[in-house]
Amino acid sequence: MNAASGTGYRIAEHARLDARNTFGVRASAPMLVEATEAAALTELFGYAMLRDPSTLVLGGGSNLLFAGDAPGAVLALDTRRIDLVEDHGTHAVVRADAGVVWHDFVLWTLGHGLTGLENLALIPGTVGAAPIQNIGAYGVEVREHVQAVEAFDRGTGGFIRLPADACAFAYRDSLFKHAPDRYVVTAVEFALPRAFQPRLGYAGIEDELRAMGVEGAPRAAQVAEAVIRIRRRKLPDPAVTGNAGSFFKNPIVPAAQAEALLAAHPGMPVFRGAGDDSRKLSAAWLIDQCGWKGHRDGDAGVSADHALVLVNHGHASGLQLLELARRIAASVQARFGVAIEPEPRIVGASW
Ligand code: EPU
Repeated sequence: MNAASGTGYRIAEHARLDARNTFGVRASAPMLVEATEAAALTELFGYAMLRDPSTLVLGGGSNLLFAGDAPGAVLALDTRRIDLVEDHGTHAVVRADAGVVWHDFVLWTLGHGLTGLENLALIPGTVGAAPIQNIGAYGVEVREHVQAVEAFDRGTGGFIRLPADACAFAYRDSLFKHAPDRYVVTAVEFALPRAFQPRLGYAGIEDELRAMGVEGAPRAAQVAEAVIRIRRRKLPDPAVTGNAGSFFKNPIVPAAQAEALLAAHPGMPVFRGAGDDSRKLSAAWLIDQCGWKGHRDGDAGVSADHALVLVNHGHASGLQLLELARRIAASVQARFGVAIEPEPRIVGASW
C-alpha cells in the first residue's frame, strides 16, 4: 500500500475497508483519502477525482453494506471539531464537523447543559451521517434539532449551507439521501435548548428509568442512560458482532392495507404514518413472524435479539448478507404482501 499526506489529510492506495464498515466485511478501495481537518476539504474537492460521483464518502461506516469493493476513490471524513457558535441563554447553536462520532457528540451536548439529543444516545455513526438518513430513535428524530446542514455540492463545485427546512427531512430520509452523488455533508449546526423537556412516550423508557431508581422528573443525562441501557440490551454491539443497526426501514403502507392486515393478524403493531391515510408497520415484527429471528446461513445471520438486525458472525461476505436480506424481504412480501426496503446504503450491487 502506497501512502502520502498533506495538511489535514492522508492518502493510501489499495486500501482495505474492513475496519471502516461496522458489518466488518472484506472490502477495499483503489484509493482512500482520509480528511482529518475541515480546512483540507477545499483543497481535496479541487481534485476532479474527489468531485466525481463515483467517489464514496464514508463516515462511521455504520449504515452501509459493501456487497463488493468500492468502485472508485473513498473519501473518509475524520474531521472532529465541535464549536458552540451562539449562546442565547435559553438555547445554544452548536456546529459539529461531519466526522465527529455521533454518540461522543450527544455526550458533549449533555456535558454542556444542552438537551434534546438524549433519546438519540448510542446510535452508531457520525454527525455527518445523522441528517442524511434523519436518524431517529425512541420517539425523536434528529431533524427536530438540526438548524442547518453544510455540504459540498458536487453539482456546482461549491460549499453550501442549507437551512433545515430546505433539507426535505422525512422518516429515515432527506434531500441528501436522494442525491448521494451530489452532496457531501461537511458539518451540521444544531439548535439545542437548555430547559429539558423529556420525551418518554416510547415504550420502555419509563420502565427503564424506574428500574434505574429514578423518581419524578428525570434529568436529560438519566434519559440518555436509560436509552443506552435499552440499546445495549436489544441491539448487538458492532465492536463485538458486525451489524449496521436496523437493516430494513419500517414500511409505510396505505391505511386500508394496514387495517386489512390487522384484521388478519390482531397482534400486529401499527404506528402512525406520515398522514391520515398511511400507517407505519413494524419490519421487525413482519420478519419475526416469518421465522427469521436467530436464523443463520453460515456466518450471515439475523440477530437472535432483534429481527431487524442482520449480523456477521465472523467471515460473512457482503454479498452473503445481501442475499440473506433479499430472501427475508421476499418471504415478507409473499406472506404479508408488504415490500420492505434496506435502510443502509448498498455499495457494489443494487437491491
Ligand atoms: N418486534 C418484533 N420482533 C423483534 C423486535 C421487535 O416483533 O425481534 C416488534 C415489537 O412488537 C416491537 C416493534 O417490533 O414493539 C418495534 O420494535 P422496536 O421498538 O425495537 O423498534 P423498531 O421499529 O424495530 C426502530 C428504529 C431503530 C430504533 C428503534 C427505537 C427503524 C428502521 N428502526 O426500530 O433504529 O432504535 O425504533 O426507537 O426505524 C436503526 O435505524 O438502525 C435503528 C436501530
